[in-house]
Amino acid sequence: MTIVELIKEELLKRCNESKDSDGFDFWENHIKYVVDNAVALAKKYGADVEIVELGALLHDIAMPSNIGPREEHHIYGSKIAEELLTKYNYPQDKIERVKRCVLNHRGSQDLPRNTIEEEIIADADVIAHFDSIPTLFSLAFKELNLSLNEGTEFVKKKLERDYNKLSDRTRNLLEERYSNIRKVLFNEQHMDRNFAEQWLNNLKEYWFNKDIDSAVSLFKKTIFYQETPFMKPYTTLEEINQEWQHIKNENIQNIEIKVLAIDGYTIIAQWLLKQNDKDYDGIYEIKFNDNNECIYFKSWEMIKEDE
Ligand SMILES: [Fe+2]
Ligand SMILES: [Fe+2]
Repeated sequence: MTIVELIKEELLKRCNESKDSDGFDFWENHIKYVVDNAVALAKKYGADVEIVELGALLHDIAMPSNIGPREEHHIYGSKIAEELLTKYNYPQDKIERVKRCVLNHRGSQDLPRNTIEEEIIADADVIAHFDSIPTLFSLAFKELNLSLNEGTEFVKKKLERDYNKLSDRTRNLLEERYSNIRKVLFNEQHMDRNFAEQWLNNLKEYWFNKDIDSAVSLFKKTIFYQETPFMKPYTTLEEINQEWQHIKNENIQNIEIKVLAIDGYTIIAQWLLKQNDKDYDGIYEIKFNDNNECIYFKSWEMIKEDE
């Protein structure tokens, strides 16, 4: 048997013994998902697959072993990991690496994650919650006895905290799935980054190519349009169309637009423009309705003065 098989056998034994009366099974409801996600991330990120798989198998072992308080399961877990791996004559330097994965896996504790393997275990532990959402509802309604609204809010907040704990690259991998989960479970719509970038890119292309009709068509549903904060906002498509006619005579040399933040249906973006040899640096605040149509458009800008 390989070391991974030996450890898995030991873990399954402990999980079976600790299954509680209401059916929570550490292996079935949590650890198996952590292992699957961890191995997949390890392959994707080029990490040591064996260390990662052992770390995932052992990360929560203190709980089904009923050793130590839950709050310190990462500390007790790393001790158990050491004992088991030593028993199977696993090399000392590798034991240290697995132990660090176990010790530093807890996202809630803001522990330092020094290696790619440690980062993967922490990420996989979080993704496992997305794989077993019913367990979160069970926790909310059955164990914590929350009301329907409180329980729903509890699960929503839990997933949000989890999502924000992920490393940047894993968060990117999960972005679409997270947004779909929120749509399905909580009826929430979110602007996704792809849409925001595409919309801004269209604006930029139309502007740069002086395709005024296409540019104005982005604002068909816009009822507040301000290119500078102190102008009276335009509220009709005719006024917006009128404003865009000005670009015909301008010498546009370069335009760049990038998303700075997305919050619900609001995008904050930075735009940079070089026009008639002047440099502009501006900010857009753009809001969309739930059909992804722009309803609000506001811009602030600075112009670089000659020195
Ligand atoms: Fe844990
Ligand atoms: Fe865990």
